[in-house]
Amino acid sequence: MPAVIRSFHPSDLPALYRICLLTGEVGGDASALYRDPDLLGHVYAGPYPIADPGLTFVVVDELGPVGYILGTADTARFEQWLERAWWPTLRERYPLREDPHDGTEDHVLVSRVHEWAAADEALLERFPAHMHIDLLPRAQGQGLGRRLVETLAQALRERGVPGLHLGVDNRNEGAIAFYLRTGFAEARRHEWGRTLTLDLA
Ligand SMILES: CC(C)(COP(=O)(O)OP(=O)(O)OC[C@H]1O[C@@H](n2cnc3c(N)ncnc32)[C@H](O)[C@@H]1OP(=O)(O)O)[C@@H](O)C(=O)NCCC(=O)NCCS
Repeated sequence: MPAVIRSFHPSDLPALYRICLLTGEVGGDASALYRDPDLLGHVYAGPYPIADPGLTFVVVDELGPVGYILGTADTARFEQWLERAWWPTLRERYPLREDPHDGTEDHVLVSRVHEWAAADEALLERFPAHMHIDLLPRAQGQGLGRRLVETLAQALRERGVPGLHLGVDNRNEGAIAFYLRTGFAEARRHEWGRTLTLDLA
């Protein structure tokens, strides 16, 4: 069966968490970085389809989900929702902790759970939506990433959203090349990476 793109179904959630972990270290497997395999998904995957399932799309092949794109149409409202509905329970479950100095980075994600850095308001005026995209290695390089971006962009256009932004790690050169090939432009450079934008008008 060739891979197909379809709308999110709630039963996809565990697979989305797995894919998030398997692509979470500069596009590669982050399993060795986290003692808790769910933490990355709690921060970068789970909240999106829970907050707005209509903006998550999943790539499925004969073995199940192999990739996704997920996003929010309105980052500022999404951040309010995170504060109200998503972070409180996770803050109780994951108290702040020190760096154990053993190479693991759970403490970094836990500190994000407790103090989420709000998006830049000036950026949100033109590019209020944001997204994450991840495909397992076996689904990469076949045009699926481009199709996922087009699928989300179309869903956002149908809602009248003017633009989309995302953050990418400087070290993830493959992803940066992909975004620039699929119509994104560089908006800002940071120490950690870049903010890229896609005009949906
Ligand atoms: C980055 C990613 C989403 C790209 O999806 P993909 O399905 O592999 O990319 P596509 O096959 O749709 O490629 C679309 C275009 O981008 C280019 N491209 C994709 N990956 C590239 C790479 N690593 N280096 C250079 N160009 C690349 C392709 O050549 C293609 O260009 P063309 O259409 O003009 O010929 C996917 O590889 C991935 O999920 N990687 C791991 C997780 C990750 O890094 N996510 C992003 C985190 S910010």
